[in-house]
Amino acid sequence: MTYRIAVARGDGVGPEVVESAVQILNRISEVFEIEFEFKDVLVGGAAYDVTGNPLPEDTLNTIKGCDSVLFGAVGGDKWDDLPHELRPEAAILGLRKALKAYSNLRPGILYPQLKEASPLKNHIVENGFDICVVRELTGGIYFGRKRTWEDENGERAEDVEEYSREEIERIARKAFHTAMKRRKKVTSVDKANVLHTSRLWRKVVEEIHLEYPQVELNHMYIDNACMQAVRNPSQFDVILTSNIFGDILSDEISMLTGSIGLLPSASMGDGTEGIYEPIHGSAPDLAGLDRVNPIGTILSASMMLEHSLGLPEAARSIEDAVKKVFEEKYHTEDVFMEGGKTVGTKEITRLIAQNIEKGAN
Ligand code: IPM
Ligand code: MG
Repeated sequence: MTYRIAVARGDGVGPEVVESAVQILNRISEVFEIEFEFKDVLVGGAAYDVTGNPLPEDTLNTIKGCDSVLFGAVGGDKWDDLPHELRPEAAILGLRKALKAYSNLRPGILYPQLKEASPLKNHIVENGFDICVVRELTGGIYFGRKRTWEDENGERAEDVEEYSREEIERIARKAFHTAMKRRKKVTSVDKANVLHTSRLWRKVVEEIHLEYPQVELNHMYIDNACMQAVRNPSQFDVILTSNIFGDILSDEISMLTGSIGLLPSASMGDGTEGIYEPIHGSAPDLAGLDRVNPIGTILSASMMLEHSLGLPEAARSIEDAVKKVFEEKYHTEDVFMEGGKTVGTKEITRLIAQNIEKGAN
């Protein structure tokens, strides 16, 4: 069996972090005797520079013939003045839409070995935390009507936040389903005291909850949720939220785990194919310097093995290897570790690869 993986390196640090993940998958291939066929595709600014389109037709066609996509990051100052639909970000938004990847899982785990790396005080993170943000990914304000215009009062702009019942139903099911495999608690985050979309969100989430009576559900306003995340993150199991709230909350939670460079993500629809990418951006100032943390992308590859390719044992072996490297006190410069050893992108990748073995627990 050969698994076909589209490799979308993108811009800034994208190529470096993806290269690390590919090396880890090559190691998985050796250890578990699995074949991967990697197909490079152009996305983002890199694609725009060559083809004039951040998400070329060729890229989409190749991706559709693959089992999954490994995605780096897109964007950079160079392309900031392009119109909305030509910006590098249009590639990732377009790809999510094209693959109907409406559900975005963003696990935020504070590893015991990294407690000191969290900016939170020790008494708050004593027991670590393990949160999974389930973010709606193909609706809301990201995809609602948008325009910029001018009237007698000057320039104006709008982005419409819009959700249908169906869009909320399917993401709510994903969240409850995810919670069933975890600690069976869902916190639905909205702004129902102000927004119509949030009131519909809350109503529909409560209805879908009836299908999952074993799961405990509570609701929280987004402002309170941001505060609760720093006050007591271990109260959360699954956080279910909209596209824009999930974007913001997942960055906040990532920092609580020590660094945004650590967080992976999986974006899926109803099928098995998915887009796997770190939650961080393209960080152009770090590009090409062997300084970026590749672990968010490496753990994204691990999520791919688990969710799209049905290889949970291989997925676990990557997570275990990452933990081992932390235990040995190796880290990249974005992660703080008392008495730790700071290494570069390539070295941390080599250390993780070296620790991958079969039958790890
Ligand atoms: C993310 C990113 C993207 C988003 C950008 C690059 C469009 O911030 O994946 O969190 O907002 O979804
Ligand atoms: Mg983001």
